[in-house]
Amino acid sequence: MYSGRRSCAGDGLTRIMIYLIVANLVQKFDISLPPDTELPNTEPADMAAVLTSNDYKVRMTARK
Ligand code: HEM
Repeated sequence: MYSGRRSCAGDGLTRIMIYLIVANLVQKFDISLPPDTELPNTEPADMAAVLTSNDYKVRMTARK
């Protein structure tokens, strides 16, 4: 996972935060593909310190 000798001291905290953020988003929004939009390209866009995705659009509708 790490390319260097050391690991990230914030790894555990970051995983918990990502879990909470994603859980909150899927709980509060319906997430769908906007009309006339292609599925996102899931190939990695760039790899520096972190892996980044290509740009993509989503439609987020507040759940009732
Ligand atoms: C998405 C979020 C994060 C990413 C991608 C990330 C990534 C990294 C990477 C690549 C390293 C260097 C590891 C190496 O030397 O090979 C590192 C080190 C470190 N990170 Fe993070 N980090 C993140 C979040 C955090 C957070 C939230 C904290 C603190 C609350 C944190 C604290 C540290 C510290 C203190 C080090 C240095 C550890 C050492 O040298 O012993 N990081 N991080």
